Amino acid sequence: MYGMVNRAIKDYLITRYGNTLWETVLQHSQATEESFLSMSQYPDELTVSLLVEAAKATDQDIEKTLQDVGEFWVEFALNSNYGALLRATGNTIREVLENLDNLHSRLVSAFPELTPPSFWCSDTRHPNTRQPDSEYLEALELHYFSQREGLSNFVIGLVSGIAKMCNEDCRVTLLRNRKDLTDHDTFLVEYSTSNQ
Ligand code: HEM
Repeated sequence: MYGMVNRAIKDYLITRYGNTLWETVLQHSQATEESFLSMSQYPDELTVSLLVEAAKATDQDIEKTLQDVGEFWVEFALNSNYGALLRATGNTIREVLENLDNLHSRLVSAFPELTPPSFWCSDTRHPNTRQPDSEYLEALELHYFSQREGLSNFVIGLVSGIAKMCNEDCRVTLLRNRKDLTDHDTFLVEYSTSNQ
């Protein structure tokens, strides 16, 4: 993956846990000081090794680590050169989720070797939808296609990060894993806008 992703993991660890923990993770992973150039490509195994060592050092399971890094990614991207692009993707969680392919397509000029994921949204007949006593007022199904495996929890964190960016509350649940004989992951995203 592009070094920008490794950089986000590094920033996440330093911001949340400090430099000492970061140095330990760096030492035990396959990464070196040179693995963080945003516009360079590195093997996915290097990124995986950073995540595995991060999970060990923070005493969390890999799923929780992926989720936390996903949530952090949105904050990180907002503060990067691509913050304006991300903001322009939409004002509501639904708008942003519906425009994710557009966002990654626009990034191809900056990251020519990008292997982007693909997302689409569909309506859901989830029982909570439109029930007056539901904590969440809206719901959609998010479909995630990827050439990479094992990133479901990263997506769960990313969606939470998007909700924060849009000042909305959300709950994300994995409905169908692509291991369950489908070619993609499907998430239920329940959400409501705080100023509704
Ligand atoms: C301006 C904001 C963003 C930038 C600059 C960006 C950039 C990138 C980059 C460089 C990669 C690595 C892919 C590769 O090296 O081949 C990536 C992967 C990914 N991005 Fe984005 N991204 C942004 C926003 C988002 C958002 C908001 C989501 C929300 C769902 C998202 C979902 C993902 C996922 C799931 C992957 C993993 C790749 C895979 O499944 O194969 N990205 N992105």
